[in-house]
Amino acid sequence: MFLTKALLAVAFLALVNAQYWHNYKSGRNGMVHLFEWKWDDIAAECENFLGPYGFGGVQVSPVNENAVIGSRPWWERYQPISYKLSTRSGNEQQFASMVRRCNDAGVRIYVDVVFNHMAADGGTSGTGGSTADPGSKSFPGVPFSSLDFNPTCAITNYADPTNVRNCELVGLRDLNQGNSYVRDKIVDFLNHLTDLGVAGFRVDAAKHMWPGDLQAIYSRLNNLNTAHGFSSGARPYIFQEVIDLGNEAISKSEYTGLGAVTEFRHSDSIGKVFRGKDQLRYLNNWGTAWGFADSDASLVFVDNHDNQRGHGAGGADVLTYKVPKQYKMASAFMLAHPFGTPRVMSSFAFDNTDQGPPTTDGHNIASPIFNSDMSCGGGWVCEHRWRQIYNMVGFRNAVGDARLQNWWDNGSNQIAFSRGSEGFVAFNNDNYDLNSSLQTGLPAGTYCDVISGFKSGSSCTGKTIQVGSDGRANIYIGTSEEDGVVAIHVNAKL
Ligand SMILES: *[C@@H]1O[C@H](CO)[C@@H](O)[C@H](O)[C@H]1NC(C)=O
Ligand SMILES: *[C@@H]1O[C@H](CO)[C@@H](O)[C@H](O)[C@H]1NC(C)=O
Repeated sequence: MFLTKALLAVAFLALVNAQYWHNYKSGRNGMVHLFEWKWDDIAAECENFLGPYGFGGVQVSPVNENAVIGSRPWWERYQPISYKLSTRSGNEQQFASMVRRCNDAGVRIYVDVVFNHMAADGGTSGTGGSTADPGSKSFPGVPFSSLDFNPTCAITNYADPTNVRNCELVGLRDLNQGNSYVRDKIVDFLNHLTDLGVAGFRVDAAKHMWPGDLQAIYSRLNNLNTAHGFSSGARPYIFQEVIDLGNEAISKSEYTGLGAVTEFRHSDSIGKVFRGKDQLRYLNNWGTAWGFADSDASLVFVDNHDNQRGHGAGGADVLTYKVPKQYKMASAFMLAHPFGTPRVMSSFAFDNTDQGPPTTDGHNIASPIFNSDMSCGGGWVCEHRWRQIYNMVGFRNAVGDARLQNWWDNGSNQIAFSRGSEGFVAFNNDNYDLNSSLQTGLPAGTYCDVISGFKSGSSCTGKTIQVGSDGRANIYIGTSEEDGVVAIHVNAKL
């Protein structure tokens, strides 16, 4: 009797926890958002770069047909016209081939799914050849008619959950997820993606939908496709866009029972810290003490495609590729720290916050260009190809589940910690040099700092760090150095 109950409890727990699990292949970690990349380019990136460098997965831009907006801004992809898999990133056959090639390279695919709404007025023709009339709420490509939408009203009051969830976000026609036909269409769309081999979903505008409706939808999602290497019974990883900086009527806690949430407070706080508005020593209790959701319910990031350009929420403290030294330090901290499921942003350069991705002709998206040092050109920033970032994905894989230990700080903006006896990092965000003997937790030996270089055979292209038989090493980070961080781990021992 007791045993049965205990087994049932374990089974229930496994079921409940499933949607928080990212489904990475073992020994891999770290997701990258390849914002606006084309499917063929992502497939090649999985094979040539992400697979070899240990990344766990890719978040891709919305896959379903969207409205063609004149100047081709990035946000046209958040204006659905139908659930046909046809966008500027490619068609269904290209999408399916990408998912197959990435899974074969050990890299999982997560789709940004937009089902809170359809296109706003002006979105009359789609990237897949469908037409629509948002004015009369007619989307024949699905098909949806006015019966499938909430009555028109504008979101004007974030203190009123009904207004936020039943009215229109910037004029986007608001689907009624309480309607069983609408639910069927959404479930079919998501299950089609799962059948093609994806590992999970980023749910756009989740805060604008009722948790009960989302629960009804998620409960009908298929298990992941075992033909793509997922274990039998594996559930899609769900991370929901819920912007909750702590002062609104709708709380992320209404959604964390259903899956993970995109933890915007992580982005806001890490930006403030590495911009020098908060001292690094306070990072010693990084996690729920900072108001974040639980670790397994937090998809964490330094910036995302919205807040890097001042859209959504986050504001002026968000760090982006435009402040590279601080950005790399914040990214290194996020990847070194055990809290949350980290996602690295990979951007295209922009001056104007509406600007879409690089194109060949104003419409067709251009492929990234790769330089000899592996960095990108052609308007693509590719933060994930910055050594200080991809080598920290390697660090995260090397340290695995090892506990955070040997915390040290100098009472202000110099900190260091180890992950068990597998890896060690130190940061200097002060305006004086760090030069101290610190406990690294690592076995004695000579290590290659994976921030300033990488291990190449038996030598190191960057700084080397000597760990003594007592585990201590002299750590030096000068204020004028290119990077304010050093990182060593067992796989970078010379
Ligand atoms: C922090 O480090 C700097 C440089 O090593 C030193 O001048 C300062 O006194 C340290 N602060 C504390 C509280 O030890
Ligand atoms: C760092 O400290 C060590 C030991 O105190 C000293 O020998 C060395 O010269 C210092 N390095 C720098 C660059 O200040």
